Amino acid sequence: MSATVMDNPLRAGVRLERTADPCTVIIFGATGDLTKRKLVPALYRLVQERLVPGEFAVVGAARSEMGHDDFRAKMKDAVAQFSEAKRVDEEVWDSFAQGLYYLPVNIDSPDDYKKLSDLLDQIDRERGTQGNRVFYLSTAPALYAEAVKQLGQSGLVNQEKGWRRVIIEKPFGTDLATAKQLNRDIHEHLEESQIYRIDHYLGKETVQNLMIFRFANGIYEPLWNRQYIDHVQITNAETVGVEGRGGYYDKAGVVRDMIQNHVFQVLSHVVMEPPASLGAEAVRDEKIKAMMSARPFTAERVRNECVRGQYGAGSINGKPVPGYREEEGVPKDSTTETFAMVTMRFDNWRWSGVPFYIRSGKRLAKRVTEVAIQFKDAPHQLFGREMMEQVAPNQLVIRIQPDEGITLRFGAKVPGQVTRIRDVNMDFRYGASFGVQLAEAYERLLLDCILGDPTLYARTDMTERGWEIVMPILEEWAATKAEAPFPNYEAGSWGPQATHDLLASQGRRWRRP
Ligand code: BG6
Repeated sequence: MSATVMDNPLRAGVRLERTADPCTVIIFGATGDLTKRKLVPALYRLVQERLVPGEFAVVGAARSEMGHDDFRAKMKDAVAQFSEAKRVDEEVWDSFAQGLYYLPVNIDSPDDYKKLSDLLDQIDRERGTQGNRVFYLSTAPALYAEAVKQLGQSGLVNQEKGWRRVIIEKPFGTDLATAKQLNRDIHEHLEESQIYRIDHYLGKETVQNLMIFRFANGIYEPLWNRQYIDHVQITNAETVGVEGRGGYYDKAGVVRDMIQNHVFQVLSHVVMEPPASLGAEAVRDEKIKAMMSARPFTAERVRNECVRGQYGAGSINGKPVPGYREEEGVPKDSTTETFAMVTMRFDNWRWSGVPFYIRSGKRLAKRVTEVAIQFKDAPHQLFGREMMEQVAPNQLVIRIQPDEGITLRFGAKVPGQVTRIRDVNMDFRYGASFGVQLAEAYERLLLDCILGDPTLYARTDMTERGWEIVMPILEEWAATKAEAPFPNYEAGSWGPQATHDLLASQGRRWRRP
């Protein structure tokens, strides 16, 4: 068995030359949306970019009866439709398709795991994949524990004849109790080092760049604290609605769907201390340490510092769209939140007194995820008000998506004989500076798992901490009625008025991204 990156602290986190072992990736839930939209296009790209060796195979597993060739044809269509390039390179496809298989599998049938095991042994012999396996659980979440149990009982995750890793898709539980239970269930059959809990936000280049930006440069870190920062705004706005997933979404809401996982991952990169090394454990230790210092929410803090919202009908890009309650699968009287603002506070030396305002929602005015660091005013203003034409405090905006980049806002002299000052921007754009298309998050994350590097995956403690923080919000909102009117924001707006009022009451203002 080859050593993993985690075993070797010198290699950990150092992503220069990375050589992947021969292996087979098995996708449970292979007829689902994620497989065709993300997973297979990402695996195809890894083959195209030669980031995986020739001794590589992919097995789709799901309930439907289907032959290998049918599955190959479906996946070829998927690559043509959903890959970044929107086209299939025939030569690359042929080599990918040769190693692409399908097996009908019922998640709870031991016989089917025996068949899977036989197929995988056959693939090892035919393609030289050496017994190394990634099992990707992309099934209905209620089946994760059962799948891991069956994998354990069938011996498929036993690492005697090669490494065995399991990727678990979101959502990881639906609250703290279910997340803890799921962790207990999977730990019965897997070592923590075999478990890869995916959060696709961690695979985004710009989220990874947060650490580089902070810790590879000398000029920002000295300013990155309560002395210089007034507050931080994190905006995670989507223009899409629930996209036919009303049934799932109505039981979830934005706090479960986005905040406790994706947004907290981004947040932890902003809040964390520099890690001792780039090793997976060192990085994840700092992230959990940061989140442990988040001030617990009380019912009172939820009432005073958080806002929930739901969209009514409105328009997006000039096109009328229905309200949330009119979406398919959503009850007409649903009170599920499609928008939330939460104010986080971190009780530690670096961040004491600095509020982190977070907002996330669907059907907002624009698709944008960004972190805006708002600095304090200059301690003494030499220039009188009459000279300040349009001046706001310095702001550093890290754009996670789209239009990935970083902008610093500062005041500059307007050219002319009179002294007048106006804000200008200094701008870095990924596209313009590097001229390359950013890789898809799933590509990066799948490769990391194959390489045995869990840095960009969520550890047990982080999944539970995310839930622990949001539970009082979920509980308070479940126990109380949303203040009328509800729905309280129009599709295509910037969310409920209450979020603007809340910031205004603290003498601050939401940025308009
Ligand atoms: C998913 C959520 O995890 O992330 C969706 O379930 C959401 O509701 C999506 O739309 C957003 O991802 P991205 O990468 O488009 O920001």
